[in-house]
Amino acid sequence: MSKQFDVIVIGGGPGGYIAAIRAAQLGKNVACIDEWKNAKGGPAPGGTCTNVGCIPSKALLQSTEHFEQASHHFADHGITVKGLAMDVAKMVARKDNVVKQNNDGILYLFKKNKISFFHGRASFVKVADGGYEIKVTGAAEENIVGQQIIVATGSNARALPGTPFDEELILSNDGALRIQSAPKKLGLIGSGVIGLEMGSVWRRLGAEVTILEGLPTFLGAVDEQIAKEAKKAFDKQGLKIELGVKVGDIKTSKKGVSIAYTNAKGEAQSLDVEKLIVSIGRVPNTIGLNAEAVGLQLDERGAIVVDGDCRTNLPGVWAVGDVVRGPMLAHKAEEEGVAVAERIAGQHGHVNFNTIPWVIYTSPEIAWVGRTEQQLKADGVAYKAGTFPFLANGRARALGDTTGMVKMLADAKTDEILGVHIVGPMASELIAECVVAMEFRASSEDIARICHAHPSLSESTKEAALAVDKRTLNF
Ligand code: FAD
Ligand code: NAI
Repeated sequence: MSKQFDVIVIGGGPGGYIAAIRAAQLGKNVACIDEWKNAKGGPAPGGTCTNVGCIPSKALLQSTEHFEQASHHFADHGITVKGLAMDVAKMVARKDNVVKQNNDGILYLFKKNKISFFHGRASFVKVADGGYEIKVTGAAEENIVGQQIIVATGSNARALPGTPFDEELILSNDGALRIQSAPKKLGLIGSGVIGLEMGSVWRRLGAEVTILEGLPTFLGAVDEQIAKEAKKAFDKQGLKIELGVKVGDIKTSKKGVSIAYTNAKGEAQSLDVEKLIVSIGRVPNTIGLNAEAVGLQLDERGAIVVDGDCRTNLPGVWAVGDVVRGPMLAHKAEEEGVAVAERIAGQHGHVNFNTIPWVIYTSPEIAWVGRTEQQLKADGVAYKAGTFPFLANGRARALGDTTGMVKMLADAKTDEILGVHIVGPMASELIAECVVAMEFRASSEDIARICHAHPSLSESTKEAALAVDKRTLNF
C-alpha cells in the first residue's frame, strides 16, 4: 500500500519548505517533494530562492560591494589598499558554499521536524482514498497519498520569444549567477529587480554594463521620487540604462551576442556584448505536475488559480508562492505557506498583502511598503508626505553614505501611514520598522514620538514622520 500523509507539499522552495515545517509543528504527518539537484546530483532544497535567486545574488552583491568600497571609498577613510584584486573564482566558490549551507540547513530542518523528504519530481495521478495520489520520479521513485496537497512549484525565467536561454551567451538568472569571470561588456534586457542587481554585480567588477528596458519609465512600480533618486545614483556609477527601447533580432556568434533594437526616439541601434542576461520577469511553473489528471485549474499565464486563502478549485489542494497570483517574493511565499498550514490545522492563517515589503539590494538599496504617491493620487486618497534626506543624518555622514532619503506618506485626515519609500543605505533593514508600523496601523505621529537610537539611520524614518507634520528637527 502507498505511504499515507496528512499533508504532501510539492516543491521545497521558501513557500513549500516553510509550509511543511509549519504543518509538522501543528502535528501533521508531512511529506515534502523537491526535485532540485546540486552539482553532484544530490538534493538541494530551497528552490529558486536558495539555489539561483535571493541567496546567491545577495552573496555576489556583498562580495562585489566590498570590492567597490575598497576600490573607491576606503581612501576617504584614510585607508590605502595596494594591489587590490578580485578573485572571481573564489567569490563564486564562496557563493556556492553559502548556497550549500542553506541547502543543508533545510535538510536538517526536515529531519528536526520529522518531515519525510523525497528527492524527485512530483505529479498528480488521481483522486484516491479521500485525498490525492502523487507519483514521485527521480532519485526517489514511489507513489504516495496525501489528504491535503500544497503545491509550491515556483516559477521559471521568462525567455524572449525566439531567443531561448543557452546559459552560455543568453543567460537566465541561473547562468547569470554562474558567470566565472567579469565580461568586458555585459548586456541585460529588463531594468527590473534582477537587471539592476545583476547589472550592479558585474559593473562593480569592471564590466561595461548596458541595460535595455522596454518601458519609458524607470522602475514603474516604485514611488517616482525614489526611482528618480535611484536612477541618478546608478547613472553616476556608470550603469547604462536605456529606457523605452524595442528589442529586435538577437544573434549569437563566437564573439558574443549582438542585439538589434530601436531606441526611445525610434532610431535603429545595435549592442554587442560578451553575454546577455534576459531578466524580463518570470512565469509560474507547473511543468510536469500533470495538473490535468485531477482537473487543477490554471489561468492563461499558467498560474494555479487560487482564492485569497490559497484554495484551488479542488478540495484539499492549495497553492502558494510564485506559482499563484501576487508578487513573486520569497517572504510572500513563506507567509502563504504558513497561513495554508494553519488553515489545514483548523486555525485562521492570515497574510496581509498590503504590508508586503519590497527590497532591491543595489547600492543604494531601494525598499518600500504600502502605496506610492502615484497610487494614492490614482486612488483619490488625500495624503500628506514627509521626506528626510540621509545627507542630514549623522550616522549616514559617519558611514560615508548620504545618498537618498526616507519618504513617508500618511492619510491627510487620520494620519495613518499609507506607504514608506526608502532609497539609501540599509534601506532593506530600515523598512522593517515601517512594515511593523503599518501592520499596527500606526500614524506618522506614533513614529515621530518614538525614541530612536542616536546616531542611527533609523532616525531618518523618525524625521520623515516629523516631516509629514512639517516639523523636522535636523533639516
Ligand atoms: P521556488 O523557490 O521556485 O521553489 C519551487 C521548488 O519546487 C523548486 O525547488 C523546484 O525545483 C520545485 N519543483 C517544481 N516543480 C516540481 C515538481 N513537479 N516536483 C518536485 N519539485 C518541483 N525574492 C525575495 O523575496 N528577495 C530576494 O532578494 C529575491 N532575489 C531573487 C533573485 C533572483 C535572481 C531571482 C530569480 C529571484 C529572487 N527572488 C527574491 C524571488 C524568489 O526567489 C521567489 O519569489 C521564491 O523563490 C518563490 O518561492 P516558491 O517556494 O514559490 O518557489
Ligand atoms: P521584473 O518584473 O522585476 O522586471 C522586468 C523588467 O523587464 C521590467 O522593467 C519590464 O518592463 C522589462 N521588460 C519586459 N519585457 C521586456 C522586453 N521585451 N524588452 C525590454 N524590457 C522588457 O523581473 P525580473 O527582474 O526578471 O525579476 C523577476 C522577479 O523575481 C521580480 O519581479 C521579483 O519578483 C523577483 N526578484 C526579487 C528580487 C528582490 O526581492 N530583491 C531580486 C530579483 C528578483
